Amino acid sequence: MSASDPYRVLVVGDVHGHWNDVDARFLEAGDQDLVLFVGDLGDEDPEIVRDISELDCEIAVLLGNHDAWQSFSNKRVTRRLRESLDLLGEDHLAYAIRELPECGITLVGARPFSWGGRDLRSPEIYGELYGVGTPEDSAARIAEAVARAQHASLVVLAHNGPYGLGRNSSDIYGKDFGKSPTGDWGDRDLELALKDIRAAGRHVRVVVAGHMHDRLLHPRGAQRTRFVEHAGTAYVNPAVVPRVRQIDGEELRHFVELRLAGGQLVGCDEIWIDAAGEVRSRTTPEFRPRRG
Ligand SMILES: [Fe+2]
Ligand SMILES: [Fe+2]
Repeated sequence: MSASDPYRVLVVGDVHGHWNDVDARFLEAGDQDLVLFVGDLGDEDPEIVRDISELDCEIAVLLGNHDAWQSFSNKRVTRRLRESLDLLGEDHLAYAIRELPECGITLVGARPFSWGGRDLRSPEIYGELYGVGTPEDSAARIAEAVARAQHASLVVLAHNGPYGLGRNSSDIYGKDFGKSPTGDWGDRDLELALKDIRAAGRHVRVVVAGHMHDRLLHPRGAQRTRFVEHAGTAYVNPAVVPRVRQIDGEELRHFVELRLAGGQLVGCDEIWIDAAGEVRSRTTPEFRPRRG
């Protein structure tokens, strides 16, 4: 990248097993600077984690609830989850940071494996892996990581987004399932952490988080709002599920591109690539104000 080019980040939304050589070749041949994964790669599947961890390009991952499904059911960390974490090593950005000096930004990883909702679901897992027992502990861990950041401008990578962005099922992290498919399903710890981070004088430029899929269960088939701007932060939900779709008779694969420069988000597009890795569609989403 030359001094005038923005830093290019490709974001992969919830994978849910939709991953193959086309994706790998596209990323390995691409001129992006970094690839972010918001998790839900598979159902606690070290094989897909291995494929992604072996990509010959720069990556950062935050695993999702599906990536720890059995561990959460058993309330203890399974061998398969340990294997996934070992494969990713420092590329799993849970409660960690990575400096991106080329664009004057620090990338921050939030709590992995989030299911959304009020609590941590299985605090035993967080206790075993991270010594975290409550949403407040978790918020403090995120803020502690940020305290070590070299830059005032931040991009946050999470599996689920924060509480406070809307209560309707179609809101960016609104609840669209269960007996009462409405309400804010955002993470309390991430909301708390963002407040602390802002109070400390840092600027959260972008929060990238999936988990809440684009097509709603209730009302069935309705579209979720996935791009929101609030208080100087762009919230990007890349969870187009499935991320591989037949469009006009052709199989296309979804990514989100973020462009960063000088500590700012300077561009965001959704792209769809074909089997040859050619970009067949590029659209610039409109960031909507928060309704919450
Ligand atoms: Fe998901
Ligand atoms: Fe998820």
